[in-house]
Amino acid sequence: EKAGYKHFMMKEIAEQPTVVDAVFDAYLTPDGDAITMDLPGVDFTKVSRVSIVACGTAYYAGLVAKYWFERYARLPVDLDVASEFRYREPPFPDGTLSVFVSQSGETADTLAALRYSDGKAAKIVSLVNSPESSIARESDVAVAIHAGVEVSVASTKAFTAMLATFVVMVLKAAVERGEMDADTLAERLTDLRKLPGLMSHAISIDGELSKAARKVAQAHDVLFLGRGQMFPLALEGALKLKEISYLHAEGYASGELKHGPIALVDKETPTVVLAPHDGLFEKTVSNMQEVMARGGRVLLISDARAIAQAGGGVWRTITMPDAPELIQPILYAIPAQLLAYHAAIAKGTDVDQPRNLAKSVTVE
Ligand code: F6R
Repeated sequence: EKAGYKHFMMKEIAEQPTVVDAVFDAYLTPDGDAITMDLPGVDFTKVSRVSIVACGTAYYAGLVAKYWFERYARLPVDLDVASEFRYREPPFPDGTLSVFVSQSGETADTLAALRYSDGKAAKIVSLVNSPESSIARESDVAVAIHAGVEVSVASTKAFTAMLATFVVMVLKAAVERGEMDADTLAERLTDLRKLPGLMSHAISIDGELSKAARKVAQAHDVLFLGRGQMFPLALEGALKLKEISYLHAEGYASGELKHGPIALVDKETPTVVLAPHDGLFEKTVSNMQEVMARGGRVLLISDARAIAQAGGGVWRTITMPDAPELIQPILYAIPAQLLAYHAAIAKGTDVDQPRNLAKSVTVE
């Protein structure tokens, strides 16, 4: 069943271009030039805020969605990990759209948070991989993420499938709310159609990542930095590395570096920077310089233009293809996953069944 791959995780990483295609097939017209996603009873002009609740990797998908909803649809988003949300008993302002995100659809805390929200939220939408799951059944609208069966405990294709589903939902909200005109929507949909091809390209740079990962695997601690919509990818990259290689890793917003984590930087501690070229890249260059000035080694995962702008002194670079800004968080999941995968291989851990972890967390 591993289709020639050594591990389910690598098979599932490789499936991502196909999975994203399946998501777009489900929620866009065959030409990809219009949105067909149906959310019965959800009127985005009446939504005043979105509340997203999830755990782990699904929570990080929700964090990317927060950046997108706020930027493109001008909708404020509150995001919570389910275990905090359920006991905090948060108030629900009128017009709250509650969104629960879960691969398994059975995560105990997420389900409890959904049950708490029932009767308080204006509408309950879930993003789930299984339409038969408890979370799907108890939502007003269950939106399938079309990832297919995910066997590896460390989630990969479910993450990018959640993001691909969210991106369509965000564009739908932006158009309905009058925040995006038809021409801009057409451009953004063109961006989406580039994603599967760009993901295949990203998967093909596996060899470079595996070399870098073998070096990273010798460290005890690893920092991941990202800014803006790439901040959640820094968190996800660190989580993936922790889960399967047992290296200690921390993800931070680049701008937070000098507020604490820079104290960890020395020549033994690599800093992985996930930063495609964007309007904020110059700020990221100064963050990298701060790391390098303290003897820290920077692994920069970026595109050719930004790598050139970063200048000398960077320990290692991974050159990603140029990509439209909207889809960068989805694309950069791949090098984050491959880095963790190859670090785990270098450490000789059980990639698909990491110690202490379960695929579905149905107890609190
Ligand atoms: C990470 C991972 C976990 C899950 C989390 C939520 O690789 O697998 O962090 O993402 O337990 O699970 P679901 O999405 O099933 O609710």
